[in-house]
Amino acid sequence: MERRNFLKNLGLGVAASIVAGKSVAGELTKSMNPDMTQLNTHEFPALPFEYNALEPYIDARTMELHYDKHHRTYFNNFEAAIKGTKFDTMPMEKIFASISAAGDPVRNNAGGFYNHWLFWNNLAAKSAGPSPKLKAELEKTFGSFDKFKDAFNTAAKTRFGSGWAWLYLTPDMVLATGSTPNQDNPLMDISPVKGTPLLLLDVWEHAYYLKYQNRRPEYIDAFWNVVNWEEVNKRFEQAS
Ligand SMILES: [Fe+2]
Repeated sequence: MERRNFLKNLGLGVAASIVAGKSVAGELTKSMNPDMTQLNTHEFPALPFEYNALEPYIDARTMELHYDKHHRTYFNNFEAAIKGTKFDTMPMEKIFASISAAGDPVRNNAGGFYNHWLFWNNLAAKSAGPSPKLKAELEKTFGSFDKFKDAFNTAAKTRFGSGWAWLYLTPDMVLATGSTPNQDNPLMDISPVKGTPLLLLDVWEHAYYLKYQNRRPEYIDAFWNVVNWEEVNKRFEQAS
């Protein structure tokens, strides 16, 4: 099935991908993230908010460069890397499930394309909070909501160099935090943290340097003001 059609089908309900309780990609996760219809590959997806929507926590110039330069470049390079290969018609999740065999150009740019798309959708000007169900699960797993934030913040602060911090649901359906280097993500077979992404934070310097310079912890603290919990709740609901 072409990836475009695969993603469209997912729009009819994630149920399409969890027939027999498995994702199309296989055993990695029970389901993939919702709203993959937005990720109509071969077309660069729109940013779901204005560049200045997240001010003052994430400034407009950073958002413009991040989306229109960095993200777009990952998309263009991904398209170029898969053109004429078996990956051209492969669902993203399946690419990630066999990324160790794909080579660095596909690994880096597929990750860069997908991770940023997911990241934009877990940001919003108005931040509410986790649903009662997710909050209860976070408290059960981490001890309290604040302890969950501490664990996530530690993952983000201690990622050496460039990468991402994650809240994800393991294949055993347990919430966990962790980080990945470069543009890797928990859907990749080479990732030390595996599962369904629920919440992620870009800790590449390009995500914060204009406003925060070397003060990554300030950027991480600011991030909590613009988390799109509605989307995170939805991902959790679909995956659990
Ligand atoms: Fe980025």
